[in-house]
Amino acid sequence: MFTIRPESPQDFSSIREVHLRAFKGEGEAKLVDTIRASENFVPELSLVAVTDTDRVIGHILFSIAGIETATGIVPTLALAPMAVLPEYQNQGIGSALVREGLRRSAELGFEHVVVLGHPNFYPRFGFVPSTTKGIRSPFKVRDEVFMAHEIQVGSLDHIHGTVKYPPAFDLV
Ligand SMILES: CC(C)(COP(=O)(O)OP(=O)(O)OC[C@H]1O[C@@H](n2cnc3c(N)ncnc32)[C@H](O)[C@@H]1OP(=O)(O)O)[C@@H](O)C(=O)NCCC(=O)NCCS
Repeated sequence: MFTIRPESPQDFSSIREVHLRAFKGEGEAKLVDTIRASENFVPELSLVAVTDTDRVIGHILFSIAGIETATGIVPTLALAPMAVLPEYQNQGIGSALVREGLRRSAELGFEHVVVLGHPNFYPRFGFVPSTTKGIRSPFKVRDEVFMAHEIQVGSLDHIHGTVKYPPAFDLV
């Protein structure tokens, strides 16, 4: 059993630990700390999955990025990073974090979100290759791994451009 709630300051070190154990390097753990200290941080969208005893076993972060278009920068959400402790993976926790994050993003009025990630994981939540929506990745990656999701249907219809991540993302 697990529940999902926004992070609190007591969770910061456990969140670091989740990323250090789920990923190979320190990059993602540092990314979280750097985004948290930046203007792009949205506290309501840094969510933890916790056990009955309030142990942090998963974390997901959505923060503000931009889409550079011909007429200016359109704010969007970037989903990154997310991780679940290895011994808790494949039990639905990551999926629950994505769904809850998208639900809260919608409540806050965000319209779209982009992610660089596993192409067999994110489509189940409505993500599609961003190029199908006229949104390009800032990275040289295969089309299928850079995805976008319209939290509000049709919200990307008239937005065409390239995603620009804040400098914090240079860490990963
Ligand atoms: C990706 C991750 C967050 C998913 O969390 P989770 O709790 O295991 O996810 P769920 O149990 O809800 O869903 C598991 C699904 O994710 C898929 N998945 C997990 N890790 C994957 C990977 N590295 N590559 C591709 N698919 C992966 C599983 O195959 C499974 O698919 P299935 O439902 O078809 O069997 C977790 O595996 C993790 O922390 N991985 C290491 C860090 C990482 O890669 N983060 C994501 C960066 S995009």
